[in-house]
Amino acid sequence: MSKRLSCKALSCLLFLINAACSDKPPQKMSILLPFDLPQAVIPQDNPLTKEKVRLGRYLFYDKRLSGNGSMSCASCHQPALAFTDGKRVAVGSTGELHSRNTPTLVNVAYMHPLTWSSPLIQELEQQILIPLFSDTPVEMGVSEHEHTILEALRTQEPYPALFEAAWPGQEDAFDFNNIVMAIASFVRSILSFNSDFDLYAYGAQDTALSDSQLRGLNLFMSEKLECHHCHGGINFSQSSTHALNNASDKPFHNTGLYNLHNTGDYPEVDRGLFDVTGLQEDMGKFKAPSLRNVALTAPYMHDGSVDSLREVLDIYAAGGRDMRAGVYAGDGRLNPHKSVFVRPLQLSETDIEDLLQFLHALTDKSILMNENLGDPWLNN
Ligand code: HEC
Ligand code: HEC
Repeated sequence: MSKRLSCKALSCLLFLINAACSDKPPQKMSILLPFDLPQAVIPQDNPLTKEKVRLGRYLFYDKRLSGNGSMSCASCHQPALAFTDGKRVAVGSTGELHSRNTPTLVNVAYMHPLTWSSPLIQELEQQILIPLFSDTPVEMGVSEHEHTILEALRTQEPYPALFEAAWPGQEDAFDFNNIVMAIASFVRSILSFNSDFDLYAYGAQDTALSDSQLRGLNLFMSEKLECHHCHGGINFSQSSTHALNNASDKPFHNTGLYNLHNTGDYPEVDRGLFDVTGLQEDMGKFKAPSLRNVALTAPYMHDGSVDSLREVLDIYAAGGRDMRAGVYAGDGRLNPHKSVFVRPLQLSETDIEDLLQFLHALTDKSILMNENLGDPWLNN
């Protein structure tokens, strides 16, 4: 009530009409981007505000937001690893294994669609419900613990003030709808455009890349290698989109990682787009992941089955992965669903080294210790 009384008369009247009076109402914010880069598209029903970003940051790092109090978003999306976890596949709060490798969240505001292979999940607000509530597998395990979690947040400093600031005057702002909106807002603020590549490409700093990195960039963009075909746009992913363009509607590809018993199949645990559409032609199709900070996000691929960037390049050079032994044996190079853009390449040792150097030029070290993105509970 005290806030309401301190309002100046006219603004108070206006705000009372909206039932949302406070000294400083949340302001729609747009993030200042370097090099005149285009803004990400923000859904109209969740405008970005400083207050939501601030609250979302506390929630992102808060283990209270899991069923057994053991896991936050940051347990799997750690800033030091460009918001990945270094694991082959993610492990949920109850120890259950996810079938998938944890992707980076850097610049995810520009990614549509989300996840490794679903065309249906377009917005962060949809995606965030999965780690919170899903039980196949359990990630944060919130289901059936909603009430306990909300009660714990309600009495935890500094949440009362943060929720009030984000939704001033709302009778009870502590609900999962608001929690998801705040986390989505924070995640949209995880932006990185400060790699040597950015300085070179957008900042016009000709000397930002070494000769080797420049040769790697040229190879990456060449019609011979076709990397840019799938890894294009602001995040080196065909699924990159922004205010001035739309993402491709076919951003999923089979890159010949598997060919079980030479039947074209992928391991049943994860068959990519096929598991969504049921169409044979979608077998083993996944989204081309962002390559930003890729040197920090090992292991690689949807199932974390490739340990190093060198191995990734060897697989591309061979035109797919030939697995000679084991339950997943089969020659991925011959997978009938493989993209025509993945085919054997003649690459010298120098070419491979140049490509590796280029991929390292996509690392933005400033993101790892950015004071606006780290764990806010450490300073409390
Ligand atoms: C148990 C580990 C784990 C936790 C906890 C977790 N994630 Fe994830 N996250 C993953 C994995 C694995 C994927 C890939 C899912 C898929 O492709 O189906 C993912 C995907 C995502 C994506 C999509 C990225 C893209 O490029 O498509 C976003 C966004 C995301 N997580 C945000 C969050 C937020 C926010 C939280 C907290 C509410 C969270 N995650 C909690 C493991 C986790
Ligand atoms: C036909 C589209 C396509 C082409 C061409 C392509 N990629 Fe990919 N790339 C993908 C897809 C899809 C994945 C994920 C595959 C999976 O997990 O099953 C991927 C994964 C990767 C990864 C692993 C990233 C991670 O975080 O897991 C790297 C690195 C990579 N590609 C680099 C390259 C390079 C370098 C080239 C050129 C030699 C290239 N790609 C060509 C689609 C493509």
